[in-house]
Amino acid sequence: MDVIGSSKSINEIDAHALAVAAFKDENAGAGILKALDAAIGGMISDVIKAEEFAGKEGETAYFHIADGNLKARRLLLVGCGDRANYKAAQIGQMGGTSVRFLRSKNAKTLAIAPRAEGDAERVAQTAVVGAVMGLFEPDKYRTKDKEERQLKSVTVVIEGADKKAVQKGADRGLIIGESINFTRDLANEPGAYLTPTIMADRARKVAKEFGLSFDVLDQKQMEKLGMGSLLGVSRGSDEPPKLIVMKYQPSRFRAKKGELLALVGKGITFDSGGISLKPGENMELMKYDMTGAATVIGTMQAIAQLKPSVAVLGVAPCSENLPSGKATKPGDVLTAMTGKTIEVINTDAEGRLVLADAIAYAKKLGATRIIDMATLTGAVSIALGDVNTAILGTDQTLIDEVIDAGKAVGEKFWQLPLDNEYTKQIKSDIADIKNVGGKKAGTITAAAFLKEFAEETPWAHLDIAGTAWGDPATPYRSKGPTGIALRTLVEFIERSQ
Ligand code: BES
Ligand code: MN
Ligand code: ZN
Repeated sequence: MDVIGSSKSINEIDAHALAVAAFKDENAGAGILKALDAAIGGMISDVIKAEEFAGKEGETAYFHIADGNLKARRLLLVGCGDRANYKAAQIGQMGGTSVRFLRSKNAKTLAIAPRAEGDAERVAQTAVVGAVMGLFEPDKYRTKDKEERQLKSVTVVIEGADKKAVQKGADRGLIIGESINFTRDLANEPGAYLTPTIMADRARKVAKEFGLSFDVLDQKQMEKLGMGSLLGVSRGSDEPPKLIVMKYQPSRFRAKKGELLALVGKGITFDSGGISLKPGENMELMKYDMTGAATVIGTMQAIAQLKPSVAVLGVAPCSENLPSGKATKPGDVLTAMTGKTIEVINTDAEGRLVLADAIAYAKKLGATRIIDMATLTGAVSIALGDVNTAILGTDQTLIDEVIDAGKAVGEKFWQLPLDNEYTKQIKSDIADIKNVGGKKAGTITAAAFLKEFAEETPWAHLDIAGTAWGDPATPYRSKGPTGIALRTLVEFIERSQ
């Protein structure tokens, strides 16, 4: 699919269909809507008068234009709510709603006019990311009723802007959007089709295609390094664990000296709970317990193409979590790479166990700042639902930077506290720490556990368990993996140049 940036007037756009943002209570009496209304014989004022369309978020009005002064023969108005609240999230949703609606009408070439104020490059990027994300479908394994319609091109139109800036934003949007959809595709894969070994193969392919350094630690190497925490999780499974390591190194000329940002992502390719087996209801969803790792790989894919001037390390500990005669049992004690001993209270609290060794390994490789992301706790959904991603950590500057980057791209993060008092909950009677801190503050005590391994290195943790899976579908995206946090991480990395 081609993505094109245009600064032409809307009337001049030559596409099968044209989608234009419309705001709440905006009538067709002024501006672009007035011009469009005149160009298509008053049909816009008609639907507004008939109270068919009021510009609310998610609303649409679709017109076939028999004759008029518009080159496009189909027009879609996309409701975007209040003008004053029209920010990155809404611009992206406008892009997503446009492509999903018009693809369903079999349009092949379409144009979208987001009508947002501000920097044209950024508006174009935001709209295109939303549009590309809108095209994702989770129906990969359907043989019937599969969405197979494909767009030939999407043109983003910002009337009167610098055409080069619009094109640049559109190109960047395509890179980011495709990286997000790559991550969503991985997250959607059944456990049997995406074992740790296959995941490492997929990551290797990305590294090769986009020019990243790549390494993968196998079980033997992990044993040598003493990664007893990670290995304690993979013990019960016949599939061997893999620790994926990817690195983006900017050209020596541009590199910021001495800094190495590490992204660490939980890669449990299926989480049954292990011996502390989960109940059957919704267990199939635990195929997405590797979304943190997939987000790391997807982010690396994006920055390999965007080429910021900061070095970035991607670390993804991958394992299954299954019960068997060899599996770790509640009550067992594991020794992590750092030498810390961990009493396993519940084998279903496995994410923190694999992350412990991965965070330690990122530090060993020279990480100066660490951001980890993980579908870590069910408790985060109780606290924040599917609206905000929880962020916690040891470095307020880093946390604030991530939250701000999120605001700029339309992803919401909410900080939870991580006072030292919470660490008391993970004190063990027989070992240094235990992997569960009781019923209270489950998301926080999970982070308190990780903090024991991040130690003095500035660190932030994103618990994406509530936000990585979208259900139900919305007008702007399918049901299923959302690709949360990738846009924010790219924005964060580009801001830290
Ligand atoms: N992968 C789960 C967390 C999860 C739950 C992600 C629901 C997405 C949706 C994690 O490994 C887990 O099982 N956590 C336990 C921790 C508990 C045993 C302390 C949980 O949240 O119940
Ligand atoms: Mn679990
Ligand atoms: Zn898990």
